[in-house]
Amino acid sequence: MTKLATAFELALPSRKPKVPAFRWLYASLRAEILEGRLRPGARLPSTRDLASQYELARGTIVSAFEQLKSEGYVEGSVGSGTYVSKVLPEKLLHVAPAQVAEPVWHGKRRPVISDYGQRASPFAGYENRPTRAFRANLPALDLFPTTLWTKITLRCLRRISRRQLMGCDPLGYLPLRQAVAEYLSRSRGVRCAAEQVAIVSGVQEALDLTARLLLNPGDRVCVENPGYPGAVLAFRAFCARILAVGVDDEGIEIRQLPAQGVRLIYVTPGHQFPLGTTMSLARRLELLEWARKSGALIFEDDYDSEYRYSGRPIPALQGLDSSGLVLYAGSFSKVLFPALRLGYMVIPSDLSHHFEAIQSLTCRHAPLLEQLVLTDFITEGHFGRHLRRMREVYAERLSVLLEEGHLRLRGLLEISGVEAGLQTAGWLSGGIDAESAAVAAAKRNVDVTPLDRYSQGRVVPEGLQLGFAAVDAKEIRRGVRELAIALEGARKALPRNSQKSQRQNTVLSKTTGGRRGSWESASGKAVALGEECRERELLARADPRKDRRYAGGVTRPTLRHLLHGSGAQVP
Ligand SMILES: Cc1ncc(COP(=O)(O)O)c(C=O)c1O
Repeated sequence: MTKLATAFELALPSRKPKVPAFRWLYASLRAEILEGRLRPGARLPSTRDLASQYELARGTIVSAFEQLKSEGYVEGSVGSGTYVSKVLPEKLLHVAPAQVAEPVWHGKRRPVISDYGQRASPFAGYENRPTRAFRANLPALDLFPTTLWTKITLRCLRRISRRQLMGCDPLGYLPLRQAVAEYLSRSRGVRCAAEQVAIVSGVQEALDLTARLLLNPGDRVCVENPGYPGAVLAFRAFCARILAVGVDDEGIEIRQLPAQGVRLIYVTPGHQFPLGTTMSLARRLELLEWARKSGALIFEDDYDSEYRYSGRPIPALQGLDSSGLVLYAGSFSKVLFPALRLGYMVIPSDLSHHFEAIQSLTCRHAPLLEQLVLTDFITEGHFGRHLRRMREVYAERLSVLLEEGHLRLRGLLEISGVEAGLQTAGWLSGGIDAESAAVAAAKRNVDVTPLDRYSQGRVVPEGLQLGFAAVDAKEIRRGVRELAIALEGARKALPRNSQKSQRQNTVLSKTTGGRRGSWESASGKAVALGEECRERELLARADPRKDRRYAGGVTRPTLRHLLHGSGAQVP
């Protein structure tokens, strides 16, 4: 049996008056062993340490140890170490060790959970499932240079100063903030000084900090629909009123935005989540103009647009803004790896001291060792190299997906070509609904996510989100083959002549069934049944194949007429 050294002092329960020291020590050690806090093989503290910790005579401790030994709880000898036995006597007698008890509230009231605590719902951002075609929202983790990262980490640790061991400013390690500011201004057209950059633990923390700073209960926040659930959950936890706003090929639809009374608008202009479109320059300028007039601030989530494969690079909204209206956030989750939990925010200068105060009260600052490693990784040029390499890899994977899809999925799924990011969308044909498609695909070891899982109270055409970055070309080809079989099977399983009615039913059930949570339409009105019918009719008429445009060599349905903005609200 491996012997485990006990690295910690034993915290035994305090001795009751009149209980002899020997009995107390024997019973406490036995309980530690039986309740699993001292595990088989663990070394008991030395008699000398116990004597000084609990002010006992060493003879008392030796006697307690001897007693435990004679009963089979410990083995070894005083002097060469005493260890918890491998097989405990209670085990031989089939007595189960005590379990952690559920709290029992004997007539007392349970702890009161705050409104925030009750509203906060878990966000399934991390899922421990196999990486296979077409897992979305994940980079190619097998291509991350872990050996290099280890080397830099070891070097940073060897050189770490006592001052660094104490921590850093709430907004982060200044050399990293400088490196991020330089990178963003060069490659994303962001205009900022290092002092405006805050290092955060990813976009999710940026959303939470923003909500803490800007939102009071009942404040209105506009989000894209379909859109990123992580943002909605963060804002909703602060009791914001969420307004779902439709999206077309050019981005969020400005004409649906209320003229006044919106506190914040959340957008993903670089690569709309989940549709994959890029917001046009004209739309960016319109959005900034709307924000300037309405007094709203903009949260720009630039989560993965480092990866641009085609099209003209469009500067970030933040870089086009001259009025300090944009809070810009980005992440290292997609460029490096999600477990790093590092990202950044660029904050309008008049808000940065507020962010600093809030961050000092929450996480204090992002872990410094990781910040040191990342600083060197960026300033020594590894970051740029990794990015260039991955851009090539992902561009190749995207083209394999598009070519294979074109070849094998014709009449079943039309995959959109995207200009940026790690995932794209595909539009289903032949009356197959997205949920059945996802179930059929999963049975053939393929992951696809129905797009309407990202929409609230409204409808998108039947579509799937497909990631193309996390797996290699061979797995993408397998995925397309299997998906074709799965979709063919799903189509055959449809009742005859059901294509049209299937589409209508899906639309109807989604419209009525989508009234979860507290989203509302951009107009602020609940959608009445009559309106649902109008919506159903509109969607039934909208056929993605009738309305296409040619983009960068890839056909894709135009979303303008499909993603109209009549949301539903029944809080
Ligand atoms: C739209 C969007 N924003 C942000 C993120 C990244 O969040 P984080 O930086 O917290 O990992 C993701 C991750 O999937 C995302 O899809």
